[in-house]
Amino acid sequence: MDAPTSVVIFGASGDLTSRKLVPAIFSLWEAGALPGEWEAVGFGRRPLSDDEFRRSVRPEAVPEGWAEFAAHLHYRHGGYDDPASYEALAEQLDAFDASHGAEPGAGNRLYYLATPPDVFPVVVDRLEEAGLHRGTIGWRRVIVEKPFGRDLESARALNARILQTFREDQVFRIDHYLGKETVQNILAFRLGNGIFEPLWNRNYIDYVQILVAESLGVEGRGGYYDHAGALRDMVQNHLLQLLALVAMEPPGTFTADAVRNEKVKVLQCIRPIAPGEVDRYVVRGQYEGYRDEPGIAPDSTTETYVAMQLAIDTWRWSGVPFFLRTGKALPERRTEICIVFRQPPLTLFAKATPAEQPEGPPGQVEPTVLTLRIQPDEGISLRLGLKPPGAGMRLAPVQLGFSYRSRFGRDAPDAYERLLLDALSGDATLFIRGDEAEAAWTAVTPILEAWASSDRAPEPYPEGSWGPAAADALVKEEHCEWRPGGDAA
Ligand code: BG6
Repeated sequence: MDAPTSVVIFGASGDLTSRKLVPAIFSLWEAGALPGEWEAVGFGRRPLSDDEFRRSVRPEAVPEGWAEFAAHLHYRHGGYDDPASYEALAEQLDAFDASHGAEPGAGNRLYYLATPPDVFPVVVDRLEEAGLHRGTIGWRRVIVEKPFGRDLESARALNARILQTFREDQVFRIDHYLGKETVQNILAFRLGNGIFEPLWNRNYIDYVQILVAESLGVEGRGGYYDHAGALRDMVQNHLLQLLALVAMEPPGTFTADAVRNEKVKVLQCIRPIAPGEVDRYVVRGQYEGYRDEPGIAPDSTTETYVAMQLAIDTWRWSGVPFFLRTGKALPERRTEICIVFRQPPLTLFAKATPAEQPEGPPGQVEPTVLTLRIQPDEGISLRLGLKPPGAGMRLAPVQLGFSYRSRFGRDAPDAYERLLLDALSGDATLFIRGDEAEAAWTAVTPILEAWASSDRAPEPYPEGSWGPAAADALVKEEHCEWRPGGDAA
């Protein structure tokens, strides 16, 4: 019989538990994907009974099977720093093992750190002190939520602390973007088809854009966000992860270490932006009205928008600009990666006339663009130039498209489902390795430092706009243009 498995969520009274974690565990349970015998314990500072906890995480529309599922959910009220709470937790977990016919302590344990980040080292201290990091037969693993540090130094310190207690293969640093189906499809698309990889380099690609646009503002998370900002909250993790998947070399095998070795290598090849160059390559913006949001300092200089140009110094990418852009309060929610290909060497054909192609400006023929649409309307499209009907030989853009929903008949499952399942089965491919987190912080820390010592405030932009005008100058300088999504399939 497999050892029973206990999942302990630290910070269980926070909204991640009810919004993401419990629904993900429920879906896995419903699909029969959870290990045979399992229990989950929410650990938090709010005094709740098991029943109160179950009610606090119950979806509004109660799904079928909920009562049976919820019987596996338990709650432990405790202090993160209180040794007695961990001793009581250890006893509870041992009792679960025994109730499932295993020796106390023989079960598997997955610890999910969803507390405020300054508490992560405290929980690790106490887990070790209570002996909860060691197992006799079963495994011990720890999932660490974001943010993983707030700069290079703090990320290093956090890695060092965690790795005193757990081995790297027991540590699962989460970036929920890696759990998104369409993010995993980046590698499937590149490496599962023989025709793209030969083109995937400086000889054929003119520039790459990665956009993560959100229409919402800070939505009640002001207290956290005002100390983070878009560079820490989005670029260091989600955007650099997307960049790594687009730009990495193919791994020799699809194993956690082989994939992550290649990601680390490419992140380490991002050219550092010198302090004096930050204003040239990085635009920071703040939406008008941000300072009036709850929890935001009235004179806050926190950025809610970043546009930046990165260079990757490898043989594959030398000379190819990577433009990254993310912001809150933009016109729509849209995450996509555009690969813009070089124009053919000779211009044989003119652009279609406005009558043949009413949309779009007159002028040069549009380049071929491959768009990997991460969300919403997950899919992939390739924009080509083709001849519209009629006399003459002119080019108008057409789209070849794949839509996730129409091909697979369902929306992509939530990222947390996949990530929890992988952590339960010990597969760390879609999690961030310690050196990877540090490589990403190395790329952004000089920018944070330059901003911290600058008097220049972020550029204001109106809510619902595509950000400050300075971002346009950034791409124009390289004879490129932003593609806010005119290329939808
Ligand atoms: C989180 C950030 O990591 O990602 C949020 O903290 C952001 O500020 C969110 O809104 C975006 O995630 P998604 O999956 O909605 O694109």
